[in-house]
Amino acid sequence: MNSALPEGYFKRPNVARVQDHLDGGTDNYAPDRDFARDLVAAAPWLPGSVRINRAHGPRVLNCLTREYSIDQVIDLGCGLSHDNNRDVPDEVRRMVYVDSDPGVDAHARMVLAERHGTVSLRADLEDMTVLLAAGPIARIDRGRPIGVLLHDVLPWLGDDTAHTVLAVLRSWLPAGSVLSVTHATTDMAPEAMAALTRLYEAAGIGFLPRSGPQIRDLLRSWTPLAAGGPVATASWRRSTPLHPRFDHSHAYAILASPGDRIS
Ligand SMILES: C[S@@+](CC[C@H](N)C(=O)[O-])C[C@H]1O[C@@H](n2cnc3c(N)ncnc32)[C@H](O)[C@@H]1O
Repeated sequence: MNSALPEGYFKRPNVARVQDHLDGGTDNYAPDRDFARDLVAAAPWLPGSVRINRAHGPRVLNCLTREYSIDQVIDLGCGLSHDNNRDVPDEVRRMVYVDSDPGVDAHARMVLAERHGTVSLRADLEDMTVLLAAGPIARIDRGRPIGVLLHDVLPWLGDDTAHTVLAVLRSWLPAGSVLSVTHATTDMAPEAMAALTRLYEAAGIGFLPRSGPQIRDLLRSWTPLAAGGPVATASWRRSTPLHPRFDHSHAYAILASPGDRIS
């Protein structure tokens, strides 16, 4: 992919930078912060939701390494994870950060790829053939299980693309692999979610939070792993789920395996 930044790149809100601002990061600009202010006015719980989602990443990585002995992970739609590397367990020997955003890729190359075994790839989930053929992914050992993160990425993809991404991944991943998904949902605060969708749309950004049944439908060919969800992200693997009043995820977390396949 061309690494040049598109015209006006810093002058309009950008999903990764808005998330970064909501998460307390500094890789963002005035248009991102102004837009984030409008989002928070419509959904005051949004910064909490973003932080719960971010905190979920390290929890899942620990689960993948310790419970599934996975040591190679692909983070699809990785975003501007300002302190991700500190949270990557030492057991992860190969980590591939993938995002279509040129700024995210530049950031990952500078900041994240310092860690041994970590590489960044700019690629678009709209074209899985190109993405999977790219060097950093092609060098992953498909003779062993692979962990794949799709955290807060599917809501930024239309239904057809989301279905294709999941179908291609399912047939590409070796047995024993694990997929982790988080997905914003309309189940928990439908009116605020609708307001967020309208604000993103007005900014030219497609945002598609889905209902629980719609998310289940996306993953219908996958095998849910025990206690893997879907549950509200903040309540994932808690012996006592949080009361909805204290669970500001507004998203579901799911852990799934590609399951049995006819090859
Ligand atoms: C909300 S951020 C989530 C970041 C991170 N996964 C997390 O959980 O905090 C969504 C990310 O998905 C990326 N993204 C959206 N559409 C994409 C696509 N078609 N291909 C690759 N990345 C995409 C965006 O650039 C952005 O960095």
